[in-house]
Amino acid sequence: MTVATELKKSVDVVALEEKVKAMYRDVATNPHGDYHFEMGREMAERLGYLTADLDAIPQQSIDSFAGVGYYFDLAELKAGETVVDLGSGSGMDTFVAALKVGETGRVIGIDMTDEQLDKARSLRDGAGFDQVTYQKAYIESTGLESESTDAVISNGVVNLAPVKEKVFREAARILRSGGRLALSDIVTDTRLPEGITCDATLWAACIGGALQIDDYIAAIEAAGLKVERVKHNPEYQFISDSAQGATSKFGVKSVSILAVKP
Ligand SMILES: C[S@@+](CC[C@H](N)C(=O)[O-])C[C@H]1O[C@@H](n2cnc3c(N)ncnc32)[C@H](O)[C@@H]1O
Repeated sequence: MTVATELKKSVDVVALEEKVKAMYRDVATNPHGDYHFEMGREMAERLGYLTADLDAIPQQSIDSFAGVGYYFDLAELKAGETVVDLGSGSGMDTFVAALKVGETGRVIGIDMTDEQLDKARSLRDGAGFDQVTYQKAYIESTGLESESTDAVISNGVVNLAPVKEKVFREAARILRSGGRLALSDIVTDTRLPEGITCDATLWAACIGGALQIDDYIAAIEAAGLKVERVKHNPEYQFISDSAQGATSKFGVKSVSILAVKP
């Protein structure tokens, strides 16, 4: 395949970033709007989030929760640990992580969308989660120190990245030896056709960028991490008709994964 053909067949990354930012700006500022995906507390509880955890964090972060699964059971976060959330959105998972690592731990949320960062910071300030900070950065290039992190977490985000391998290499770089990557994300049973992978709008809706599950696991392992658990999340369902069509045709689904840095 020539470079020109490769470029023609890939999604337009500039348009994609704009669409992703626009979509998640809306998620932050208008959580009760119409989306391809469900958001909010009812879904979080269905995915497995604990009622006690949800009661202890800012409720507006739950309204804008756009994750796709529960992985805190795999992450096993401990008091005093340093955790990095790739694509932290309005902050729900950073607050749940803060409950687990306590006041002696540290949680760093990374996101590229200003409105998500603004909302997360203002909720953090109002609730006094002093161990949580946010940084505007790409998940492919966080700017954090190498081997500085006990656990990297992420929810519904890596599917949005044009090159997943870059994200997993960055996670592996910032993890210490023995550190964990625990995430939930959208994958597929069969590889998606170009008509879908070149559609930036479907991509921003967490469908177009989904990798086939074996390719996804291979990308994590190519970064030097060892995949230890893969859990399927049938509780997660897209809600729009077009999204449901793609879901049944290509087996678009949510999984939670635990990988460890040797
Ligand atoms: C589906 S939302 C999930 C947010 C959050 N994890 C949650 O569960 O609510 C995706 C988030 O990832 C951010 N994002 C997507 N691609 C990114 C990238 N390449 N670098 C940084 N942030 C990104 C978006 O701005 C958005 O806030």
